Amino acid sequence: MGKLVVVVGTQWGDEGKGKVTDFLATQADVVVRSQGGNNAGHTILFNHQKFALHFLPSGILNPKITNYMTNGMVIEPKSFFQELEGLNKLGITNYQLHISDRAHVIMPYHIALDGILENLKGSEAVGTTKKGIGPAYTDKVSRSGIRIGDLLHPDMLKQRLLANLNFTNRLLSALGEKMYEFDELYPIYLDYGKKIAPYVCDTSLLLNQEIEAGKRILFEGAQGVMLCIEQGTYPYVTSSSPSAASVPLNAGISPMALTDVVGVTKAYSTRVGGGAFPTEFEDDISRQIREVGHEYGTTTGRPRRIGWLDTIVLKHTKRVSGLTGLAIMLLDVLSGLETLKICTHYELDGKVIEYVPGNYADFIRVNPIYQELPGWNEDITGVQSFDELPKNAKNYLRTIEKLTGVPITLFSVGPDRTQTVVLKQIFE
Ligand code: IMP
Repeated sequence: MGKLVVVVGTQWGDEGKGKVTDFLATQADVVVRSQGGNNAGHTILFNHQKFALHFLPSGILNPKITNYMTNGMVIEPKSFFQELEGLNKLGITNYQLHISDRAHVIMPYHIALDGILENLKGSEAVGTTKKGIGPAYTDKVSRSGIRIGDLLHPDMLKQRLLANLNFTNRLLSALGEKMYEFDELYPIYLDYGKKIAPYVCDTSLLLNQEIEAGKRILFEGAQGVMLCIEQGTYPYVTSSSPSAASVPLNAGISPMALTDVVGVTKAYSTRVGGGAFPTEFEDDISRQIREVGHEYGTTTGRPRRIGWLDTIVLKHTKRVSGLTGLAIMLLDVLSGLETLKICTHYELDGKVIEYVPGNYADFIRVNPIYQELPGWNEDITGVQSFDELPKNAKNYLRTIEKLTGVPITLFSVGPDRTQTVVLKQIFE
């Protein structure tokens, strides 16, 4: 019997999904990326060498795994090919990769516009990764985007590029910015089309065959549900939906097909970029967490903002995305803290609430209400089972389970694959 397991970030991204995905990928036949682009990133170790994946699914290093990049993604060809070349330099040339003809292309003007629009927003800037993600999805939704399949058809590419530039150049000109020449871009993108052609197909057709064949399929989420364009802290979000609910649409499969949703959460919280963050704090403890947890962005290198664990956020993710289990990451980072705090409720205008307000004007005003728990001093990086944890660490995990109503699938006590304690097997 096949399984379709989704790994989602339950917070604002960077929860450690990469490690969970690498770990689960060893048991999967197929790994799928279904949304976002190179705003995502995680570093993996291969033969003692570090390698950052931004576009490519995590199964790419394993020749037995079939990898998919499906229709919900936005792909920037230049960076994509650089990533593939990086793999080749590591000696990895034997991989299985399929890319959807329906995925959208991030063009150079999308990257330029990302920076220009952020500057225009001034203090309201989202703090994007400046990879052109928002402008590429904007063109997708306004039906003027260029799709990967268009790159393979010279006449179609010509038509789409002319139409796209017609509007974009007027916009850039009105903003006093550099415009883009059709004659310069067209041959470059035709060339990308030839290079990418061997990977391009209707990924939905193939994926549905994998499902029918009973394969073990892992959908690796990018970003986190609080950055979801639909259910996140709008407008401080990304331009796609990182929730499990979006996977069927973004991959062209039945919504009834998913079997498990693993919600990845840090044992605390972090956020990069702008936007309200109720449990954020800045003091010696947060600085310690940032240093011990190496809380600096993989894609941009920015220091991450630090907060206590927020179970209102986890319950929100559970409701809007669905969660069948939690993966609690970086538990070891909390060792040595005398007292830990978990947010259990928000206070808004004198009322106690248990949900994330949809209205941003309300969300920025909520005050977190905390439950305090005693910390532990022991080094837990070598722990191999739940029972080996110090009493207070066990209590911390059990409290998260109780407050969220989601059972813990696994917890992690260090970056290495072996520093993962599985409480419930997913693919077995
Ligand atoms: P964009 O996705 O580049 O448009 O950025 C929108 C927001 O999402 C910004 O606050 C980014 O910092 C955040 N973001 C996008 N991708 C990631 C990610 O993979 N991890 C964490 N934050 C992200």
